Amino acid sequence: MSIIEKHGIIERNATLLLVGSLVVVSIGGIVEIAPLFYLENTIEKVEGMRPYSPLELAGRNIYIREGCYVCHSQMIRPFRDEVERYGHYSLAAESMYDHPFQWGSKRTGPDLARVGNRYSNEWHVEHLMEPRSVVPESIMPSYSFLATTPLKVANVTADLKANAFVGVPYTDEMIANAAADLAAQADPVADTSGLEQRYPKAKIGDFDGNPGAVTEMDALISYLQMLGTLVDFSTYDEASGYR
Ligand code: HEC
Repeated sequence: MSIIEKHGIIERNATLLLVGSLVVVSIGGIVEIAPLFYLENTIEKVEGMRPYSPLELAGRNIYIREGCYVCHSQMIRPFRDEVERYGHYSLAAESMYDHPFQWGSKRTGPDLARVGNRYSNEWHVEHLMEPRSVVPESIMPSYSFLATTPLKVANVTADLKANAFVGVPYTDEMIANAAADLAAQADPVADTSGLEQRYPKAKIGDFDGNPGAVTEMDALISYLQMLGTLVDFSTYDEASGYR
C-alpha cells in the first residue's frame, strides 16, 4: 500500500480526519503559544523610553480630545517607503506607556510617530493656528483656540497615578512633583534640574511664543516635539535589540 493509498483511509473516514486535524492543529498552537509562557516580556528593551512628563501627558490628552488620531497615525511600518519618509520603523517599546495607544487607523495627514524635532516650535504654532499659512494645500483644520485656552489640568497627580495603576513606571517622586513639573516645563526661567533628571530629553521652554500664560498650545507642542525622540537608535540593533 503506497503512502497515498494509506492517506485515502483518513480521507474516507470523517471521524479519523477530524481527530487527525485536531492533533495537527494543536501541535501548531502549542509551538506558537508555549514559548510566551516562558518570556517575561514580548516588548524588546530599548534605551531611552520613559513615561511622559506631566506637560507632555496633558498635551497627549488634548491630542486625543481633539481627535488628531482620526487623521494621523503614530506607527511607522517596516516598509522601505515608510522608513525613507518617516525614519526608523516604530518599535513596540515606543508605545508601551500609551494608554490608549495612538497608532491610528487612517492617514489623512502624515504619520506623526517621529515628528519631534522635525520643525521648530514657531512652525507648530503657525501650523496649528492656520495650517494653510505654512502648507497652502493643507486640509487640516485650524486649532487656533488652543493658543487662547489656558491649560487646565484638573488633577495632574491623579493622571499620573491612573497611568501608574495600569503599569506605567511613574515613581513616587514623579507623582509628588507632578504639578511643579507641569508648570516648570513651560516656564523658560524655572529651575528644571529635577524635571530634566526625572524626564530626560524633555523639551523645556515657552512653546507657544506667549510667555505670559501656559496654554493648551504649550502642552500639545511639548507632546509633538517629544514624539519619536526618546529612543537612542545609535545603540539599537535590529537583530539583538542592542549593540
Ligand atoms: C481632517 C484631518 C486632520 C486632522 C483632524 C488633523 N490633521 Fe494634522 N494634518 C492633516 C494633513 C492633511 C496634514 C498635511 C498637510 C499639512 O502639513 O498641513 C497634516 C499635517 C500635520 C502635521 C505636520 C506633519 C509633518 O510631518 O509635516 C502635524 C504636526 C499635525 N498635522 C498635527 C496635528 C494635530 C496635533 C492635530 C490635532 C490637534 C491634527 N494634526 C489634526 C490632517 C489633519
